[in-house]
Amino acid sequence: MPPSFQPIPLPPSADPAHFVDFGREVADVNPGNLSQEDFKQIEEALYKYDVLLFRNAQLTPEELYTLVKAFDPQSTHYAHGNKQLDGTKKNILYGYVHALPHTPQVQIIGNGIVRNHEGIDEIQLKHGRHPEFHKTRISEEDEANGFTRFFRWHMDAALYRLEPPRVTALYGLKVPKGPMQTVRYDDGSGDELQVTLGTTAFVSGKTMFNILPNNLKNLVVRAKAKYPPHPFQWVRDAKAVSTGLGMESDGLEVPLDDLPAWEEKEVKIYPFVWKNPVTGELHLMVHPCLVMEVHVDPVPLGCVKEGALYPDGACLKDLEDIRKLLYQIQRPGIDPKAITNQLVYPHPWEENDLVLFNNRGLLHSVVGVFTKDQVRLFHQCNLAGSDAPIGPSKEDIETWCSG
Ligand SMILES: [Fe+2]
Repeated sequence: MPPSFQPIPLPPSADPAHFVDFGREVADVNPGNLSQEDFKQIEEALYKYDVLLFRNAQLTPEELYTLVKAFDPQSTHYAHGNKQLDGTKKNILYGYVHALPHTPQVQIIGNGIVRNHEGIDEIQLKHGRHPEFHKTRISEEDEANGFTRFFRWHMDAALYRLEPPRVTALYGLKVPKGPMQTVRYDDGSGDELQVTLGTTAFVSGKTMFNILPNNLKNLVVRAKAKYPPHPFQWVRDAKAVSTGLGMESDGLEVPLDDLPAWEEKEVKIYPFVWKNPVTGELHLMVHPCLVMEVHVDPVPLGCVKEGALYPDGACLKDLEDIRKLLYQIQRPGIDPKAITNQLVYPHPWEENDLVLFNNRGLLHSVVGVFTKDQVRLFHQCNLAGSDAPIGPSKEDIETWCSG
């Protein structure tokens, strides 16, 4: 039987009109053992719908690695490299991910103490909590009452030396249950979002692009983000804004000379907009916390400069300016407001859910707060890409710069 694809069930907080092409539940296949024909269908669906959910999946870590590798057969190691996270504690990812000893491309993430798991006697897992990363925090009392925040919006990527993975797999092995929690945006908007405990929140980069006004579309198709060397060390002392969608600008970034040795040729500059390899559509894909410079190309010859931002091109280096601009561009894409924009898909995890997502097509965030004794155990797999993401074509740029 070929795999079947049904629209993913949406929570009441997501407007179906914005999720027509987002998310499919896949049935009638074993994701741990796919035929070539079934894989082809799943690969195409992944790029069309960005999120694929398999319920009641049973996969070994080796099968999970094999599945993820099939999307990029030349990829071989974890998105942040085989020498995990530079072997240093001076990195904001340190402590949240742990490689499996026998399959180091698969990481364990979660919360609480896990014992006797895949050759590991005992491990303490740490779920990303906003007070460890945000400049301000929800009071402990409110947090205990189920208020929380998005931890950090991102795509999975080292953004230095290694290319972003095409696909990430998240596989929920232990999923603690609890009352619903409320995400507060705390950015003056009053916005809130009801989510299940420990949800992973997703927003579509395609929607984030499509809802932009034309003058910002005109800008983002011409813009590129330059990331610093060792980006996750660069921001190790800096703090995030309350939505997890960017950093505060308090001058706390580590000077480039104080970072571990680096080479200019390994520094990454990516277009703001990445072209979907199957649909050809444009996805706005900028890591909101890690951009160091923004380079803007001039409006192409023959296109209208009037009304365009930076019509003659620009190189923005002021972090405060960059972050203001990025927030203006990206904040509409995480809007939870009813009627106008209910754009966030918070996945309600069940045990043995396998979610595959198009890591070059959406942003996601860890959410929620667990108590110490709520044990959550996930396997995560993503592999540094064998190629760089594709930017907009000349025709795309001309289309969006034509007024
Ligand atoms: Fe992630």
